[in-house]
Amino acid sequence: MSEVKILAIESSCDETAAAVVVDGRKVLSNVISSQIDIHKLYGGVVPEIASRKHVENINGVIEEALSQAEMTLSDMDAIAVTYGPGLVGALLVGVAEAKAIAFAAKKPLIGVHHIEGHVSANYIAHPELEPPFLCLIVSGGHTHLVVVKDYGEYEIIARTRDDAAGEAFDKVARAIGLGYPGGPKVDKLAKEGNPKAIAFPRAVVEDAPLDFSFSGLKSSVLNYLNGAQMKGEQINRADVAASFQQSVVDVLVGHTMQAAKELGITKVAMAGGVASNSALRAGMEAACEKEGFSLYYPTPILCTDNAAMIGSAAYYEYIKGVRDGWDLNAVPNLKIGQR
Ligand code: KG4
Ligand code: ZN
Repeated sequence: MSEVKILAIESSCDETAAAVVVDGRKVLSNVISSQIDIHKLYGGVVPEIASRKHVENINGVIEEALSQAEMTLSDMDAIAVTYGPGLVGALLVGVAEAKAIAFAAKKPLIGVHHIEGHVSANYIAHPELEPPFLCLIVSGGHTHLVVVKDYGEYEIIARTRDDAAGEAFDKVARAIGLGYPGGPKVDKLAKEGNPKAIAFPRAVVEDAPLDFSFSGLKSSVLNYLNGAQMKGEQINRADVAASFQQSVVDVLVGHTMQAAKELGITKVAMAGGVASNSALRAGMEAACEKEGFSLYYPTPILCTDNAAMIGSAAYYEYIKGVRDGWDLNAVPNLKIGQR
């Protein structure tokens, strides 16, 4: 088969992104227009503003992606777009755009699950990686352990019962005055702190030991901060950041290792924004080395929201013959593996 070139579009949250990807692994362009500077004024993503900014930016971002790839629409074999999960108004901008382009250029349309895109970022970063493998997905809205049985085939084996890992980072960052988005700021400040300074909890979910729960940890950090304030004590923000982060990392690494051992899987991957966290990378690397497992994670630019990962996931759907109709709609709470 000749090369399959896919134009992919992503607009599920606060980045407007487009990319041209060849055969699911080779990225010819990966353009990301971030809205972070606007949303940080409000301490988080404002859905209405996100939708409006996507409308303003999307045409330019797509043109830039094609131009950087030195291609035109007619060179594309398919148009791919994230159709869920995410903010409904934000998703709709990408979906409507993809449908319009695909219809006008007479190209097949492929809807992609955002989180399956995050997992597929590993195929770009590691050309030799093939399923099956275990993947820890840690983003702003999701914390899952999935077995990637084959391309596009996922079995969820653990999930969070409350907050996602990235959400916990963002909430703790706000509590210690670091602002939005909090994850990278906690990561940076934690380097100056002592991860053993404060004994924050490592939650266990009684009936499902591989599941995650981060709301108790978040409350524990808030109680610690309130307690110190009431007693008039100075807090060491770097110690809070480092100790909180260590608690999250211990749980994520511990559950991932336990799952891999129970399932007899020796290939472990990470995906999503939190997979950029330096302590998580170091912790997972050490644990995998000890167990003799191979570890895969994408570069930071491929960990955050981007369209190249959507183009990669779409390729494996394309070669299976998956096509979507003009009735493709945004599905804000789309489940992994659902179609
Ligand atoms: O995957 P992503 O870009 O968007 C979603 O699909 O949610 O993930 C964003 C999340 C945010 O919560 C952000 O704070 C977190 O990933 N994050 C990090 C780091 N970089 C991004 N969390 C911890 N450490 C980091 N270095
Ligand atoms: Zn994401």
